[in-house]
Parts: sequence; structure tokens; C-alpha cells
Amino acid sequence: MKISHIYFDVYGTLLDFHSIEKELKEITFDQNVSRLWREKQVEYTRLLTIADKYIPFKEISQNALFYTFKKNKIKYNQELIDTLLLKYKSLTPFQDVLETLLILQKEKIPMSILSNGDLDDLEYNLNTRGMSSYFKNLLSAQQVKKYKIHPSVYQYAVDHAGVSKENILFVSANPWDVLGAKWFGFNTFWLNRERGIFEELGISSDFTGESMFDILKILKISLVMI
Ligand code: LAC
Repeated sequence: MKISHIYFDVYGTLLDFHSIEKELKEITFDQNVSRLWREKQVEYTRLLTIADKYIPFKEISQNALFYTFKKNKIKYNQELIDTLLLKYKSLTPFQDVLETLLILQKEKIPMSILSNGDLDDLEYNLNTRGMSSYFKNLLSAQQVKKYKIHPSVYQYAVDHAGVSKENILFVSANPWDVLGAKWFGFNTFWLNRERGIFEELGISSDFTGESMFDILKILKISLVMI
């Protein structure tokens, strides 16, 4: 296996939802609210893509919030929704992210982003966290008008990498995203941050680890402290 390009998913993989989860928990006193929100978000991306329709990810996030609050009979107003969505634009990277990206950059392995998030939000968030310079391509499902795991989104990443899919490593913390990437034909790394279980559809990830540093291990890059 020769890896010539690494693509990263963003939300939950590089950037941490924790700040929003904390805020939601403070409002609702319920851990499961943020989970339902995230599940709804993903479900809506699928419904739209299956029906060949597209709305921006920020609208999906907002609609999923409406649904979650209504379902849990939680009173909300637009100000609260706006506050939560604003947090979504300035998420912090997980603590293993910057160091790993720096090492991979020093190894001269091209890296890119392939996210369901909107391009302006991704740009803003990665810029404010000083992460943009690590990535060659910043690609969003928005440019394809379909959401992952539609194969055309992964194909879009191949077209921009200029290498064949067999030489691409796709990294995501979302099992469904890893599944889609693997079905498409990428080499996959499932970043199992939450120590969960993988999808049960008769296929597994090529590689699995609990931290970004495990990517270095599979690429046989030694972890030197910098
Ligand atoms: C992304 C979400 C789905 O960044 O994690 O694509």
C-alpha cells in the first residue's frame, strides 16, 4: 500500500463538538439531546441526497436543532439557535490533531479535507484555528451538491488529489463515513475516538486507532517530539 494523499473528515474527526454538547447539556440537562441532534443532522443529509435535493449544511444543522428541541419539548427561540450555530463555526481541534498534522506535513504527505460542512464555515473554522495551511484541498459536499456517503463526493476528492483512489487514505471518526469511503475504494482509517463499534454491513475499516497518532504508526512514521 502506497499512500500518496490523506483526506480527513472534519466534524468529530479533527474538530471537537464538545463546546456545543456542553451548551446543550446546560440548557437541557440531558446528554442525549446532542446525540439526537447529530443523528438527525446525518439523517437529513441522507434524505436530501437520496431525493437528489440539496440544502446547505448550516440549514440542516438548524433544522435538526428545531427537530431536537421539539421532540424533547424544550422551549427555544431563534437567539438560542443562533448562539449554538455560531459555536459550530469555531470548534476547537482535538488535542492530538495539530501535532499529528505537523508531523505529516514534515513528512511531505499531501493532506486535504473532505467534509459535509459548508465551505465558508470550514474555511472560517480552520483559519481561526490556524489549520488551513496544512491542507492542499479544502473540499466540501457543497461543491457536489450531494452529501457523503454518495460516491460522487469521494470521487470529487480523487479528482482533486491527482492520484488514484488506491493511493488515498481516508480518515474519519464517523463509522458511516469510513464505510462509504471503503465501499468507494479508498484505504480507510477509522479514528475510533469514542471507543464505539463499527457498522455491521459485512465490511470493516482497513485500519483503526483511537488517536491521530495511530495514523503515524500505520504509515511507519516515528513520533518525534517537536
Ligand atoms: C464531516 C462530518 C460529517 O465533516 O463529520 O463531513
